[in-house]
Amino acid sequence: MNNIVLIGFMAVGKTTVGKSLSYLMHYQFVDTDMYIKKKEGKKIATIFKEDGEPYFRELERNVSKGLLKNPRKVISTGGGLFMDDISRGLYLKEDFVVFLKLPMDTIYKRLMKNNKRPLAQSVTKEELTKRYQQRLPIYKNAHLEVDTTGKTAFEIAKEIKKAYYDWLTKGEQNGKRRNTKKSN
Ligand code: S3P
Repeated sequence: MNNIVLIGFMAVGKTTVGKSLSYLMHYQFVDTDMYIKKKEGKKIATIFKEDGEPYFRELERNVSKGLLKNPRKVISTGGGLFMDDISRGLYLKEDFVVFLKLPMDTIYKRLMKNNKRPLAQSVTKEELTKRYQQRLPIYKNAHLEVDTTGKTAFEIAKEIKKAYYDWLTKGEQNGKRRNTKKSN
């Protein structure tokens, strides 16, 4: 059964696009950071500070496993979630994975405007670029890549919806069992 999963670096707009896409698809929307925040009763930055990054990654993995049980969702992930082998394997096996991307200049400007993200605190542009370059080959495992530069969330959502239905159709042709029920 299938969900649509949005991956990509911090500040590329996964949450905004995810909300728009869930509206367009009539799918439930889940943001993994919001889910974790609610469940733990703490901000992500506080979890990093008090419990450490490995604990946060474990929470992310548990969310991934739990989400598989109910399909027909749009899932916006935290920027590092897809780096985990288990989460990645689960999503790529069942779901339609979309990599949202933006040039580093834009990402950096956005990140400097807010200080909520622990991994973007007191880092130089070079350090962020290095982290992005390390992650890029992994993000590229996605079924679809969308450069979001100059597009509205709704335009991006429409592009993803179309590609998702093409993917479902291709899956059917290849004899893969996919959730082919279309929304309106
Ligand atoms: C992270 C990205 C954040 C959040 C956490 C770690 C990362 O989510 O999960 O701060 O490792 O890239 P966003 O991608 O929504 O900023």
